[in-house]
Amino acid sequence: MQFEPGDRRRVLPRHLRPTISPEVFSYTIRPARAADLPHVREIYNHFVSNSAVTLDERRSSIPYWREKFALLERLQLPFLVAVSPAGVVIGYALAQPWAGKNAYKYTVEDSIYLGPGAGGKGLGAALLQALIDACERIGLREMVAVISDQGAEASIRLHAKLGFVEAGRMGRVGHKFGRDLGTVYMRRQLTPIGRRRGSLFGARR
Ligand SMILES: CC(C)(COP(=O)(O)OP(=O)(O)OC[C@H]1O[C@@H](n2cnc3c(N)ncnc32)[C@H](O)[C@@H]1OP(=O)(O)O)[C@@H](O)C(=O)NCCC(=O)NCCS
Repeated sequence: MQFEPGDRRRVLPRHLRPTISPEVFSYTIRPARAADLPHVREIYNHFVSNSAVTLDERRSSIPYWREKFALLERLQLPFLVAVSPAGVVIGYALAQPWAGKNAYKYTVEDSIYLGPGAGGKGLGAALLQALIDACERIGLREMVAVISDQGAEASIRLHAKLGFVEAGRMGRVGHKFGRDLGTVYMRRQLTPIGRRRGSLFGARR
């Protein structure tokens, strides 16, 4: 049977028409678990191999992530993941010790990466805010971001939006994919709510 233009039979009855629901981007933010690490590694390695937003040149390994996970757990520092309704890890954010010396005990450096398709929808802001809140609850005072000066406009914008201010730049301290790279330092004062227990560096050395 052929339909002619204007033929009313071409219009499906209402109950047979497909329902077009607007795309909903939903997720849950929770502390990372050991089982999340392979997904976290994949997210991070994508940027290692394809971008200059991280100055890492070598893809990270599972032992690397296990070690970092254990360290942050021991130091009681937040390591958060965002998970889709289907249970897929679509992004992560973590806070790690800044500069490796004990008197920096109230200062952390953040790290935040989203998986493919998860950027530009507000998830970065939600994750970074959750990380800031978690750090304030454990009595930390300062968060620092070290950001590549090439290709990381989204990160600079995200940090500025959440109250970070630029604290300086260093040009040509890195070199990746055959070109020089610099770093942008941003910092944000935290409002500690809880009291920091113990040292950021574990046992005294
Ligand atoms: C940086 C990153 C976490 C931001 O997360 P996001 O979910 O995309 O960010 P949001 O949607 O919450 O937006 C935050 C701000 O960044 C801006 N932004 C997002 N993507 C952008 C882009 N590609 N270019 C410029 N600005 C961008 C948004 O407009 C928003 O600012 P506004 O509200 O003032 O308009 C994410 O893009 C990402 O994973 N990037 C690659 C990894 C990376 O650079 N990590 C940081 C290393 S220091």
